[in-house]
Amino acid sequence: MTKQITETELTGPTEPAPRGPHALTGFLKGRSVVSVSDLSEDEIASLFALTCDVKAGLVQGNAAEKTLALLFEKPSLRTKVTFAVGMTRLGGQHVYLSREEVGLGTRESVADVARGLSRWVDVVAARTFSHKSVVDLAANATIPILNALTDREHPCQAFADFYTVIEKRGGARGVKFVFIGDGNNVAQSLMLLAPRLGTHFTLACPPGFEPAGDITAQTRELAKRHGTRFEITHDALAASADADVLYTDVWTSMGQENESIRRAEEFSGFQINANVLRQAREDALVLHCLPAHRGMEITDEVMDGPRSGVFDQAENRLHVQQALLCAVL
Ligand code: CP
Ligand code: NVA
Repeated sequence: MTKQITETELTGPTEPAPRGPHALTGFLKGRSVVSVSDLSEDEIASLFALTCDVKAGLVQGNAAEKTLALLFEKPSLRTKVTFAVGMTRLGGQHVYLSREEVGLGTRESVADVARGLSRWVDVVAARTFSHKSVVDLAANATIPILNALTDREHPCQAFADFYTVIEKRGGARGVKFVFIGDGNNVAQSLMLLAPRLGTHFTLACPPGFEPAGDITAQTRELAKRHGTRFEITHDALAASADADVLYTDVWTSMGQENESIRRAEEFSGFQINANVLRQAREDALVLHCLPAHRGMEITDEVMDGPRSGVFDQAENRLHVQQALLCAVL
């Protein structure tokens, strides 16, 4: 059974949720979220507190007459559905824009797309191949641009994942979080966020699949400042010893399909299976951002087993992103 976290557990004692507009509605008004690093630690705590109330049905919608544009260059199930449903629950609406119809940077410049959308809609969630596209959208828009996944980061995923860890474990401080797999967009957002929430982070990947050097350097610096452990290793089994959280993602991300055969060989020792799970703490939580390639990065046995929180994690994408929309509108 998933325990609903209370605002007190996340932020300390607060006044009861107010009647009428929630105290945190609009607390990030007009702000874009391109990286997990765009929010301060206090703002992350506020986002989680607002999420908690959104999930409990305590937050009045603030999106009447407002429109979210979903600008997606890549496929999506979770991100697309959860942003659309979150916006609807806030009283607003959405419009979906595919890669073919917009031609971001080909049919029209990224800056001009940002300028046009700013005149018609109130917020954009953008999923692009290049991280620079989302950076450029945010630089040229006068409305909030939310990163819905790029080749560098997946901030909405990481916020929902840590919300899930806090919900299931009562907090993120002191937790040993082990990511097994590719040093990809999801891993990069998680590792940048971990030290700032007091979480120890280990990434186990095959040689040559480490995260970007600048993100690793930034994470080392953050870990030093926040007094957390951070390491990158090539031994998944050893890394999993005493883990509180075991996390994985696909070996081949969207856009890397031509590398999938080579990657399947290189990553064969980086699967979350019963043997890896045995190394972790008895009450370890297993997470996966999904979609999962069962039998590759995770076995059916683990994904469908008692330690798996993957569908609670997927549910929390909705609550966290609804809170984020409520915060930036
Ligand atoms: N985890 C995630 O972002 O899933 P989708 O690609 O289906 O949106
Ligand atoms: N790393 C994966 C995440 C999918 C949600 C990808 O970019 O395809």
